[in-house]
Amino acid sequence: MEKILVETSPPLKGKVRISGAKNSALPILAASLLGTEDIILEDVPNLKDIEVMCEVLTSLGAKVEILDKGIIKINSSNINNYVTRYELMSKMRASFLVMGPLLTRIGKTQTSLPGGCAIGTRPIDLHLKGFKALGATINVDHGNISAYADKLVGNKIYLDFPSVGATENIMMAAVLAEGETIIDNAAMEPEIVDLASFLNKLGADIKGAGTSTIKIKGVKELGGGVHSIIPDRIEAGTFMVASAITGGDVVVENVITSHIKPIIAKLKETGCEVIENGDSVRVIGTKDLRATDIKTLPYPGFPTDMQAQFMTLMSLCKGTSVVIETVFENRFMHVDELKRMGADIKIDGRSAIINGVDKLTSAPVKATDLRAGAALVLAGLVAEGVTEIDNIYHIDRGYDGIEEKLSKLGARIYRK
Ligand code: EPU
Repeated sequence: MEKILVETSPPLKGKVRISGAKNSALPILAASLLGTEDIILEDVPNLKDIEVMCEVLTSLGAKVEILDKGIIKINSSNINNYVTRYELMSKMRASFLVMGPLLTRIGKTQTSLPGGCAIGTRPIDLHLKGFKALGATINVDHGNISAYADKLVGNKIYLDFPSVGATENIMMAAVLAEGETIIDNAAMEPEIVDLASFLNKLGADIKGAGTSTIKIKGVKELGGGVHSIIPDRIEAGTFMVASAITGGDVVVENVITSHIKPIIAKLKETGCEVIENGDSVRVIGTKDLRATDIKTLPYPGFPTDMQAQFMTLMSLCKGTSVVIETVFENRFMHVDELKRMGADIKIDGRSAIINGVDKLTSAPVKATDLRAGAALVLAGLVAEGVTEIDNIYHIDRGYDGIEEKLSKLGARIYRK
């Protein structure tokens, strides 16, 4: 199995361009099942998860063509299947996002139940609650889940938690439902706004995306269109931390700075200089990193997807930092790996207490999930010796060309 090797690197310097957002591109690809004409998506990141979603769409009868780097053309005029195979579902949980579009477009959908995963049990009850409220019948048997409806009718849906995936799935199901759907306590993530603006380009009528109340007026059908995916705020945050932790000076380009406010604020609290300039942000690291605390929350709070990378940084901050993870119940898998590299971290329920150490040292480590993998790459940049990271398929699921991009900034990182 391939591994990533990271040697102690000099302070990173230069410019890096951020790719399109994975977590925008995935639901938007799923939503492409709703269009009856050609759809062109631009700035799609080159990732394993995107490949899997394209495979899911193809398996359902959509035509998917890669026109150029980052440009994908989809035609879903001939959807002829409603079953997402176990093999595809088990590769990627986000495959579940085709359920809403299929249910509303062809009246039925079936897939296997997503199991637990490294970062928690991640139930789908809120997605199903939404489908039911729109009039669908749900059946669960033999590990499969199916939903069907002769027609969907708009309704008021309150989400007990502002789940990103549930908001997306329900929004997609509601665009072709009869009448109006209102989602209350909806997720407000930028990726929800991107999905809504894509759907509106295709002819949907969605208002309020980006606030906690989304109103969707059902339309008869959706057409086609061209859409560019927003920049990946988590990839941006990861490179910002890479600059911070190496005492570097990196300009991170193609960012929407309003999407990364908590990351900017927290890096400043550690003593780094962060200079915003239009659609780029420059991060100048410091040798005197100071402890800070973070609490992960739904947007606009601090993103759970940046928690692991910040924990690596906090491991080297002077003083004691506290991380409270409120979004997922089991997202501290990286802690044991960081401890093997010399970090001083204690877990107490959903909190982690990090006492800053003077240095990290290399060790053979495993990426337990995507962001944990990114946290280990960051640790490797500053650890003494050569850090060998295993299970790197997790990293390839969500970072487009991470070694190339880091190498260009001066990092010593290889794959073998
Ligand atoms: N939840 C429920 N019931 C549901 C759905 C979710 O209880 O029906 C709970 C989950 O168990 C979790 C919390 O709600 O504790 C948040 O889950 P959410 O549904 O918001 O997350 P998601 O849609 O499954 C997306 C991203 C994740 C990101 C989260 C939170 C995609 C494809 N994935 O997941 O991204 O962590 O939102 O922001 O958009 C990553 O990129 O590394 C990643 C894991």
